[in-house]
Amino acid sequence: MGAAGVMAGARTPRPVAPPMAMLAELTHRCPLQCVYCSNPVQLVARSAELDTRAWARIFRQAARLGVLQLHLSGGEPLLRRDLAELVRVASEEGLYTNLITSGVGLSQRRVGELKDAGLGAVQLSFQAADPSLAREIAGGEFWEEKVAAATLVREAGLPLSLNVVLHRHNLGQVRELMEMADALGAERLELANTQFYGWALANRAFLMPDRATLERAEREVDAFRARGSSLEILWVIPDYHEGRPKPCMGGWGRLQLTVAPDGRALPCPVAYVLPGLDPPLATEATLDWIWYDSPAFQRFRGFDWMQEPCRSCARRFEDFGGCRCQAFLLTGDPEATDPACAFSPHHERVVAATSPHRGLDAASPRPSPASSPRPAKPLYRTYP
Ligand code: SF4
Ligand code: FES
Repeated sequence: MGAAGVMAGARTPRPVAPPMAMLAELTHRCPLQCVYCSNPVQLVARSAELDTRAWARIFRQAARLGVLQLHLSGGEPLLRRDLAELVRVASEEGLYTNLITSGVGLSQRRVGELKDAGLGAVQLSFQAADPSLAREIAGGEFWEEKVAAATLVREAGLPLSLNVVLHRHNLGQVRELMEMADALGAERLELANTQFYGWALANRAFLMPDRATLERAEREVDAFRARGSSLEILWVIPDYHEGRPKPCMGGWGRLQLTVAPDGRALPCPVAYVLPGLDPPLATEATLDWIWYDSPAFQRFRGFDWMQEPCRSCARRFEDFGGCRCQAFLLTGDPEATDPACAFSPHHERVVAATSPHRGLDAASPRPSPASSPRPAKPLYRTYP
């Protein structure tokens, strides 16, 4: 570790570098009810959300810890009336702020306030390339507001990214999604194949794509990139179909941390599912202690905790054994090799989850809820 890992006032270098980024889930409230939401099935109630002062204290500590980027997320962060005040505190501390939003509730006045407060960038979610599928996935009519939000962000001169969670029902629209992002003036498009946690795991049978549709979508991405567009495309791998796990979070407690709406500090946004993790509260402990010393952040750091086959696998330095939350959710053992890995003794569980859709309407370039068999009624995300 270099000098960057030495905290102000610390006498000895720390064995871990400081986090580069923090995800602040300001609220779990949201006007949308996306069927793939990775927020907990048990959402944090409004009455348990941290107040402005508590978040401001956490942001100051994050800056002192060495965090560079602050992602303000939810739920829908625009539902926090104090959002501009929080952005201002973060900016004054030198944090680069990125607002992750559905765009619902973003008026010209609000964009102006956020920009004046120092907001760095906006990431806007879209559910589909057309209003009718978007309505089905988000559980309501938000299309016009999202398109208007994209325009407001661009007119304010803020960098705009689009994020689309991909699944069986919108993978056939990848080309249209890329063209839409380009037309809306986005600089970056994140095509994030669904990660199956939270509501997405509950709706997995409804969302799971078949391999042929995935491969067509990937070819569309390659073709679009080959056109030399300035739109940067990020393709988040569909790990269930790849036979190799994702290097989740870039390694446990290695690059970033999350603070949930009630102040729980987590090595990843889903880690609340892990038994015995006992996430520390950012309102009670310092972020410095949480990052460097708390048992929750130490638990899967490094490689010593690994079982075989990860323990002796050369790929452990690249993928860190995959995702701890997925390992637990699919095997009941948080230390198991991620079943997305073809070397996992539980890999068949992932293969079985994809198999009902093998061959699904393989000739159709555009599966839709109307044309695809619907193995499960989707559960819409609901707020207590
Ligand atoms: Fe990665 Fe473990 Fe699979 Fe090796 S066995 S590829 S380290 S998940
Ligand atoms: Fe928690 Fe992957 S989502 S480690």
